[in-house]
Amino acid sequence: MAFTSRSGAEPPTCRCQGRSLSAASSAPNTLRILGMMSGTSADGIDVALLSLGPSGPGQLLGYRHSAYSPSLREASLDAAHGPLSVEEAARLDRRLGRAYARAALQALERLGQADAIAFHGQTLRHQPGGEEGFTLQIGSAAELALASGLTIVHNFRAADVVAGGQGAPLVPPYHQLLFGASEPRAVLNLGGIANLTWIPGQGGAGSLCAFDTGPGNALLDGAAALLSGGRLLQDRGGAWAARGQEDTRQLARWLSWDFFQKPPPKSAGRAQFGAPLVSELWRSWAGSPADFLATLTALTAASVALALRRWTPGAPSLWVFGGGAENPTLMAKLASYLDGVAVERGARLSGVPSQALEAMAFAWLGAQCLAGRALPLGSVTGQSRPVILGEVLPGRAWPGLLERLSRWR
Ligand SMILES: Nc1ncnc2c1ncn2[C@@H]1O[C@H](COP(=O)(O)OP(=O)(O)O)[C@@H](O)[C@H]1O
Ligand SMILES: [Mg+2]
Repeated sequence: MAFTSRSGAEPPTCRCQGRSLSAASSAPNTLRILGMMSGTSADGIDVALLSLGPSGPGQLLGYRHSAYSPSLREASLDAAHGPLSVEEAARLDRRLGRAYARAALQALERLGQADAIAFHGQTLRHQPGGEEGFTLQIGSAAELALASGLTIVHNFRAADVVAGGQGAPLVPPYHQLLFGASEPRAVLNLGGIANLTWIPGQGGAGSLCAFDTGPGNALLDGAAALLSGGRLLQDRGGAWAARGQEDTRQLARWLSWDFFQKPPPKSAGRAQFGAPLVSELWRSWAGSPADFLATLTALTAASVALALRRWTPGAPSLWVFGGGAENPTLMAKLASYLDGVAVERGARLSGVPSQALEAMAFAWLGAQCLAGRALPLGSVTGQSRPVILGEVLPGRAWPGLLERLSRWR
């Protein structure tokens, strides 16, 4: 394995007071990049510090999770679904930016210094496709820049959408770097939305294929909140669903929805698979709450199985990451629909912590942006040509960073 992982904290190596956090890397051609990911679940911010050279997936130096406050989570979820004025969006942008800045400073203090921060932001809207298609992630980069003094890379998805791509998923090339092997591999991320990566075996036929399969935890979180009157944020461990019985007729009807039947490239967001859909399905549901959750859990698993079977060449095993891997009811359903495929928790097999994986990928994507490298994602997002992903706000140590990057050529 080309990296080592070390969870938890190291002794602080810097004072993080919102002043310049000076150049952090010791080796002349390595960069230390703090990757930050906040996914559609809006549960918080995953942060990972990666040491990266000109090639390879880098070395994980540490990782943390900073949970959103309940009110920030609610504001983010409401904003992702409901109508929002420009003023409200701008205020939420600042508020999220401050949350990212706090999380970054805490991580830098606990894990060590960085040369740059690469952050994804919170998705507010995702409607790619056509000349007016767009994707919008918010969280003020200026807040992060001023708090840390570091170079910031952000807005990773926009250029891919302009190049005719879906703008998502962007993690698959990093999956390939980390998990590529002699045999084909399938990797699943069960975040709010689920995305599947199929990696060809080295020297084998086919090219990287990846796309969103539909809901990950989004429908389950939405149903748990709706059915508990807001008391629960998730069906923890899938316990509620486990008490119910799936309605196979409803399941078959839901699986015939356009999104599941459509070939890749494709990506999804909360607009398709979020609380409004849960409310609509619940209004016409005749059975019990437990049966509703059981059927949504079955839908989540069945849509992944359908995607793997129909749109990829298949693989002997499926490595599952993301919060959904912590839901044994969902994992068991997935295994039951994928006879002949070993469904495994990816963290256990690979040693890459599930909570760190996407943050690591964004640190790596940040490095590719800083190095001016265009990523070929045609077989993933459907882009018409490779483009450089991300926008850069130079920090105080920018000239030194450029000098180090010049050795990457
Ligand atoms: N023990 C658990 N049982 C059930 N669901 C869980 C558990 N742990 C995490 N999750 C689910 O995982 C989600 C967070 O997963 P994550 O991979 O961070 O998604 P995202 O990238 O969308 O933020 C939570 O919202 C929750 O639905
Ligand atoms: Mg998350």
